[in-house]
Formats: sequence, C-alpha cells, structure tokens
Amino acid sequence: MKLLRIAVKIIVIAFVCLWAGHARFLFAQEQIKLPSPCLDGTVSLEKTLSERRTVREFSAASLSLNEISQLLWAGQGIIDRENGYRTAPSAGALYPLTLYLIAGNISGLTQGVYEYKPDGHELIKISEGDMRPELCKGTFVEPWIKNAGATLVLTADYKKSEKKFAKQASRYVDMEAGHAAQNIYLEAAAINVGIVAIGAFDCEKITKILGISSSQKEPIYIIPAGKKQ
Ligand SMILES: Cc1cc2nc3c(=O)[nH]c(=O)nc-3n(C[C@H](O)[C@H](O)[C@H](O)COP(=O)(O)O)c2cc1C
Repeated sequence: MKLLRIAVKIIVIAFVCLWAGHARFLFAQEQIKLPSPCLDGTVSLEKTLSERRTVREFSAASLSLNEISQLLWAGQGIIDRENGYRTAPSAGALYPLTLYLIAGNISGLTQGVYEYKPDGHELIKISEGDMRPELCKGTFVEPWIKNAGATLVLTADYKKSEKKFAKQASRYVDMEAGHAAQNIYLEAAAINVGIVAIGAFDCEKITKILGISSSQKEPIYIIPAGKKQ
C-alpha cells in the first residue's frame, strides 16, 4: 500500500512537471526587437518645438516600425547603459513608468498589445487583435482613435515611488509622465508623425485592454499616433 502511494505521488509529480514544461512553452512571450533608434536626426530642437502640435486626424497609411521605435525610445529609451538612465528624468531614478503599445496599423507588426522593454529596446507581445474599437469606448468620445496606427499608453507603478517618497510620490510620478509625454510629442514632430495626448479615459477599460492589474500599474496617459492627413 505504501509503495502504491509513493508510485502515485511520483506519477502526479511527473505529470505536473510535464504540464509546467508545456505551459512554459505555450505561454512563452514573443519578443520583438525594435530597429535601433536614429540618434542624429536633422531637424533642430527649435524647429521641433515650433512644429509640435496635437493631431487628431490620421490618414489610413500605416506607421513604420522605425517610427514606432523612435517614439518609444523618446518616451522611455535607455540613454546610459551603465546606470540605466532614460530619455525622461525620474525622481530618484526609480523609473515607475511603463510604456505599452497598442498596434493597429504598423507595417511589420501584428495588431495587438505590447509592453515596451527599455533594456533591450524591444516589445513583448501581450495579446493579439485590433483593440481600437475597445480603445474608442475606453476614451469616451474619441472616434478618430479608430484610425490611429498606434497608441502608446503610459502606465505608472505609484507604489514603486511611494516606498521612497511617501506622500510626494504621486506628484513626482505624474510629473515624470509629463516629461515622457513631451519627449514623445517632440519626437513625433521631428519625424512628422501626428499624435495626441489623452487624459480623459476610463481607467478600468484601459487596464482591461492592456491586460494589467490596476493594483500594480495605472494607465495615466494615452497617446494615439498616426500618419498625418
Ligand atoms: C494633461 C493633458 C490632457 C489632455 N487630454 C486630452 C483629451 O482627453 N482629449 C483630447 O482630445 N486632447 C487632450 N489633450 C490635448 C489638448 O487638447 C491640446 O494639447 C490642446 O488643445 C492644445 O493644442 P496643442 O497640443 O496642439 O498645442 C490633453 C493635453 C494635456 C496636456
């Protein structure tokens, strides 16, 4: 009887190990290496500032992976490998922001939701499908989002900053999001891509689209982008 119990235990453990192996294979996250960002564009900062505008009318043309690479890098790219410093400043260099990409019409990239990983300048696929109709509902009355080739979503992990800055944390994190969003605005102007920063949205719906837990990360800025008309 004792031997039988041991045998059953061994069989159960073997099955669990097998299942875990398969599960790891099934749920392995797809990584997409982005093209290296161009660091020596020819448009001056002053021209970029004078041409920065909000654009809400997008053409049906697709965005390129190079353009997406530039926008994500401008928002949260690594500029100092040794220390991990990024394009946008961060209180205490804690980097509580995560950028997500909702791909709608990007040449060479399947429609879906992706997380931007600054370390490897790459995307991790979270889910597949055209999320633009859902985004439309989540941003109240913004029908033009349906034409956005890409939507960047800045999310924040407030708890990460609270550990160090307590009550100041939320102010710092929101300021940081402003820095990152302005970087994206300026890069968009430099590469002639239209973008709009949206602060009015249904947090719960956007959290669901991204597939994140709202207790960990909160969406704070939605930035649809597309080719100008
Ligand atoms: C914090 C913030 C929130 C915003 N929220 C929205 C928004 O929810 N919907 C929208 O269409 N534009 C939004 N905008 C864009 C502004 O409407 C836009 O910046 C303003 O009209 C000035 O135009 P400009 O950016 O071309 O200078 C937001 C801008 C900021 C800074």
